[in-house]
Amino acid sequence: MLTVFAPGRINLIGEHTDYNQGYCIPLTLWLGITVSAHFIEEQQIELSSDYERTNEPCFHRFLYSENWVKQNHWTDYCIGVIAELRKYISISVGISLHFSSTLPAGSGLSSSAALEICTARAVIQLLDQNLTSIEIAKLCQKAENEFVGVNCGILDQLAIADGMSGYCTFIDTQNLSTQKTLFDIPKGFLTIINSQITRELTNSAYNIRRKECEQAVAAIQKYGFQIQSLRDANEKMISCIKEPVLYARAKHVVSENSRVLSAWAAIQQKDWNQLGKIWVESHLSLQNDYEVSCEALDFWVNTVLKLPGSLGARMTGAGFGGCIIALIDPKILNSNWNLIAAEYYEKFGIEPTRITTNA
Ligand code: GLA
Repeated sequence: MLTVFAPGRINLIGEHTDYNQGYCIPLTLWLGITVSAHFIEEQQIELSSDYERTNEPCFHRFLYSENWVKQNHWTDYCIGVIAELRKYISISVGISLHFSSTLPAGSGLSSSAALEICTARAVIQLLDQNLTSIEIAKLCQKAENEFVGVNCGILDQLAIADGMSGYCTFIDTQNLSTQKTLFDIPKGFLTIINSQITRELTNSAYNIRRKECEQAVAAIQKYGFQIQSLRDANEKMISCIKEPVLYARAKHVVSENSRVLSAWAAIQQKDWNQLGKIWVESHLSLQNDYEVSCEALDFWVNTVLKLPGSLGARMTGAGFGGCIIALIDPKILNSNWNLIAAEYYEKFGIEPTRITTNA
């Protein structure tokens, strides 16, 4: 029996930059998904989870002799990854994978990517094979794009495959190079607040944003600028874009990339005031220019910013729900939490949850 853990992640900054070949800085969490793997006699993949386990254990079986197709179920992430992995290594022995999770699903903390990465790592280790973190991240992203049908970038998979506890990772998604630095904030100052709004809108809106970025690149190219992606664009180039929505999308990506560089410097200098300010700018840009925030996320960012001792806050992940991250004195947040949670409940009819990190 072999056990593999894959953490969830937050993105400290660099939102919607990954599919524009830009920069981002994710941080892995201590919450995540654990898989126990072992060989079985039958010629099949057997998947089960604590989540589904009632009195009768519930197994999902995928025979090697059958054609694997998407089921619109959590097992798609695992089966998609194993199908992709079979293009690299021969897999024909029976394997059982049992999953347990401490990560809230659908909250933008990358439970899907964690499921993919721990599946890949468990099968690779069980079969005594070796793949690099980048190879694993790429094949998991491919499985998610092609088997599951979600057109995500590489941020989540690379953050998790390459992450190191307590360290944040600077990713340059153009060449997939990474750097790490300790995320050395004062104890308890980083809080994740879960709006508990699951991101149903995300897929279609996400794909529309990706398209708009491609259209923005095409609009810039018409003016003779030789750019491949918004990563290569600057303010002067985007000022050529006539269509206001495309201009706003491009403005977010260009400004967010430069915020990531400033944030990386601030993190290394432990300048938490500066990081907080950059977070607020990032949130406003996601809210107004990229239009991927929502009322609940704005409620949390605005409410946290009004508290004394608050350094900054922003939405994290794809948007339209999920979580915000806040840099705030934990004593102040604690003493105000019940009141704010009640106000949130009154407005949105949802109980929020929070995770205070010790990173
Ligand atoms: C989701 C996607 C990532 C990235 C973020 C937004 O998490 O999976 O690839 O695009 O949204 O930054």
